[in-house]
Amino acid sequence: MNSSAIRSTWSSRWAFILVTIGSSVGLGNIWKFPYMAGSQGGSAFVLLYFLCVLLIGLPLLMAEILIGRRGKGNPVSAMLNTAEETRSSPLWGLLGWAGVLGALLILSFYSVVAGWIMDYLYQALMGMRVDSATEAQARFAALLASPWRLGLWHTLFMVLVIGVIARGVVGGIEFANRIMMPGLFLILVALTLWGAVAGDISAAWHFLFDFRLEDITPSVVLAAMGHAFFSLSLGMGAIMAYGSYLDHESNIASTSAWVAAAGTLVGILAGLAIFSLTFQHGLQPTEGAGLILMTLPLAFSHMPGGNFFAILFFLLVLFAAWTSAISLLEPFVAWLTERLGIHRPAAAWGTGGAVWLLGIGVCLSFNVWAEYRLSWRSLDLNLFDGLDFLTSRLMMPLSGLAIAIYVGWVMGRGIVAEEIRLPPRLFALWFNILRYVVPVGIICVFCWYALPPEFRPGVIRILLRPFDVLLHLF
Ligand code: TRP
Repeated sequence: MNSSAIRSTWSSRWAFILVTIGSSVGLGNIWKFPYMAGSQGGSAFVLLYFLCVLLIGLPLLMAEILIGRRGKGNPVSAMLNTAEETRSSPLWGLLGWAGVLGALLILSFYSVVAGWIMDYLYQALMGMRVDSATEAQARFAALLASPWRLGLWHTLFMVLVIGVIARGVVGGIEFANRIMMPGLFLILVALTLWGAVAGDISAAWHFLFDFRLEDITPSVVLAAMGHAFFSLSLGMGAIMAYGSYLDHESNIASTSAWVAAAGTLVGILAGLAIFSLTFQHGLQPTEGAGLILMTLPLAFSHMPGGNFFAILFFLLVLFAAWTSAISLLEPFVAWLTERLGIHRPAAAWGTGGAVWLLGIGVCLSFNVWAEYRLSWRSLDLNLFDGLDFLTSRLMMPLSGLAIAIYVGWVMGRGIVAEEIRLPPRLFALWFNILRYVVPVGIICVFCWYALPPEFRPGVIRILLRPFDVLLHLF
């Protein structure tokens, strides 16, 4: 079927920027970034994250948009179309499949976490008060222990996501982003200002930006790179799918730069707001995955106007999660409608239903099924951790690697240059980064994770030896 004639297009380049920021800014920036920064050396993590966004994230973002736009189709068709155009192997279509299916796997647990946020939003609306750290922990544990509560919110969130996708690209995805993204930005600015007035923003600033070289460890480097992938929605077909609705005039490079810059800014604002409150109340930034759900309600409960800002805060996180989650459902739904001609609403409800079922399994993995675990060497994962591990640690970096190789080495410079219209020097810079820096960076990180932990210190010593030698020379 020739679908190009009936394919939707975003109503402007800014609409594309908006929806792509919507996909990128999500639980990753507001829930994951602060606790990763908190537990991985603070400013060292922040600096490395910036570097990774610039050197790996931005080049890959451009490559993914390029494939989507050139291939004019869902990730699977886009890979097949471009492979045909460049006379490469149709096996590259598998990369599209990995993205499409990986995105659904992510969605199955992403939706459960978004459900936690909805539960807390509900509690805040009911006037939640948390008086001690023990109470905050007990509250979070009670949520995880209840399959009904988890399942209910997960179901509701999936309905929200499916509802948007069923309404189509412009009427659903673009419309939802047009409403939620400005709301998100306003709430974020309000919260940051409030954090500055009511909290300890200078402590937050120092924590995030006072850079200390000695805090950089290999594990911080790896965490920063992994997070750059996750927060820019890379390697999973989402950006390819959105790119396929981009018109031919828009400049991919400047568009990507906007997306990366805005995503990073939101992460920083959220970090400032969250750590201002955390430090004001003498709480620890190293709390881990429960950071915002345990420390913030406690902080909010002790401040004038706290309940109002708690509601705003959880609303903000819900918006951010919602606009990201729709980008995870879209790729497969696009494939169903374009390849099999299935009616969009039916495709959205069918796919969403399957993801929902897997998500129910994730809800149960915290309680009823908690004893079913995957244990191997130092790993001990329940279904939730397992899905996160499979997608964030394995599928995303591997797909990113394959995309860099495909665009950098397989597609051919001519076609790539037709899509990425940059001045020759800048183009060469980007192209070389994509060909060398991105693959080498990803391979290093990957080998690191594959390496059993007991070998890691030895490898670091070997890697650092040239620097030792240099230091001794001076
Ligand atoms: N970037 C989103 C976040 O930070 C999550 C996300 C949306 C995502 N789409 C993706 C992650 C595609 C990987 C791939 O929360």
